[in-house]
Amino acid sequence: MVKKTVLDKTERAWWKKAVFYQIYPKSFQDTNGDGLGDLQGIIERLDYLETLGVDGIWLSPVFASPQADNGYDISDYCAIDPMFGTMQDMETLIAEAKKRGISIIMDLVLNHSSDEHWWFQEALKSRDNPYHDYYVWRDGKADCPPNDMGSVFGGSAWTYVPHLKQYYFHQFLEKQPDLNWENEAMRKELYKAIRFWVDKGVEGFRLDVIDQIAKEPDHKITANGPRLHAFLQELSREAFMEAGLVTVGETWSANIERAKLFSAEERKELSMVFQFEHICLDQQEGKEKWDILPLSLPKLKECVCRWQQGLHTEGWNSLFMNNHDLPRIVSRWGNDAEYRVESAKMLGTMLHGLQGTPYIYQGEELGMTNIKLDIASYVDPEIQNMYRERIKRGIPEAEIMESIWARGRDNARTPMQWNTERFAGFSTAEPWLPVNANYEAINAENALNDPDSVFWYYQKLIALRKQYAVLQLGDFTLLCPKDEKIFAYVRRWNDQKLCVVCNFTAEEVPFAVPAAFAGAQILLTNYAGKSWVLRPYEAKMLYLEV
Ligand code: GLC
Ligand code: CA
Repeated sequence: MVKKTVLDKTERAWWKKAVFYQIYPKSFQDTNGDGLGDLQGIIERLDYLETLGVDGIWLSPVFASPQADNGYDISDYCAIDPMFGTMQDMETLIAEAKKRGISIIMDLVLNHSSDEHWWFQEALKSRDNPYHDYYVWRDGKADCPPNDMGSVFGGSAWTYVPHLKQYYFHQFLEKQPDLNWENEAMRKELYKAIRFWVDKGVEGFRLDVIDQIAKEPDHKITANGPRLHAFLQELSREAFMEAGLVTVGETWSANIERAKLFSAEERKELSMVFQFEHICLDQQEGKEKWDILPLSLPKLKECVCRWQQGLHTEGWNSLFMNNHDLPRIVSRWGNDAEYRVESAKMLGTMLHGLQGTPYIYQGEELGMTNIKLDIASYVDPEIQNMYRERIKRGIPEAEIMESIWARGRDNARTPMQWNTERFAGFSTAEPWLPVNANYEAINAENALNDPDSVFWYYQKLIALRKQYAVLQLGDFTLLCPKDEKIFAYVRRWNDQKLCVVCNFTAEEVPFAVPAAFAGAQILLTNYAGKSWVLRPYEAKMLYLEV
């Protein structure tokens, strides 16, 4: 077993060496038998995360919330939702995590609040209430919204409030009214809330749909509004001043140029962003994520290469293939049947060999898979809205279900699989979302007892990032760009050279290893031996010093 290296968090940009682990609290570990994960559950599992070796936890929202969108609808920015526990539990979590060298990164939703936030309740009272302008309103008549903008989750982006004769704007659910960033008092309230958590010892933030805060609905602008970077610079100056805080923005709209604006150090906006170009490659162009296309490996390689080279020395990448909004990667780009373990390790190798900060989503380290439920069992409002909408459009039900099984967000949200007990050790009661039926085979206890498990492989991947400067700093060269089966690349930094080779298929594929690496040391591989006919989903990480 590898001993965890504890990073020095007083070091500037410590997060460039770090690996983060995302927890979706509702599905991680329940301790009081209500079928819902909680903060005490996370505290109980900190030793597991320390063994894995991660440096920080990105905690999906635990703030007070009516849970219309699983906490991405906050009704009090400075309170913990009772469903997850108390403020005391949160303080214990921060302290216990810190003891293990693990930072807590909270998930801030600053684009919108819940309609149950008292600001919005005040805003509803009258047009001249001081809180009215905290939200985005337009005058109008019933059934005649200001324009045809749609909400991301279906339906109109405008909801009418008859007694005000006004519509409010919501890019997401009706229960998630957009905050008006033009209002300075509102911005100051948000900064105060952020400082509240920094004072409690939180060491960073993930910023939900942060590229959408500077919306201008009159011009149908949602992402990248003209004032976006001014707002981010103010936010960073006023709220993130603390040296060493890490910030990662969720930016679906980022291309390389925009990512540089967000993450270039001298601009003092964010540490890094999540960009989604790679993860949207297997959907039909101009359509929705439900409109599936098989992945083209050359396209993925071109995309990764462009980002690696584009941000090298000019910004900072985050590295991920999974989160609470995405299906399980082993079911998506790997093989969740015969080669589940091999392909989970291969995908991890491809990602963790790159430059940037890796994020592991809970259960990814076990190779957890997608789930197939009937429509009534899904909880996610996005799935339910899309199902209704597509049925109305006359799309065959079987086709809709295929899309949901492949892409629905609940794939990632099923309870964490800890052991072979009833409900997979997640809870003693019926969980809020069904446990995947494969939990008897795929669970943390089995993984910890098996030296060849995905878990121990991920532990090595995490440890390697700290041992080899080339992983943190090296440049990137893509090998065999047109090859449809193999993803291979070289990283270089000073005298260190690294070569990563991944077979993305269930076939045997010969690979012409670059001459320099023929006798190289194998840092990590998911198969024994050193054959250059790659076996199904084989992955190798080779290392040289010259
Ligand atoms: C982000 C979150 C997602 C949420 C949405 C609205 O995309 O990751 O879960 O539904 O924002 O807050
Ligand atoms: Ca609970």
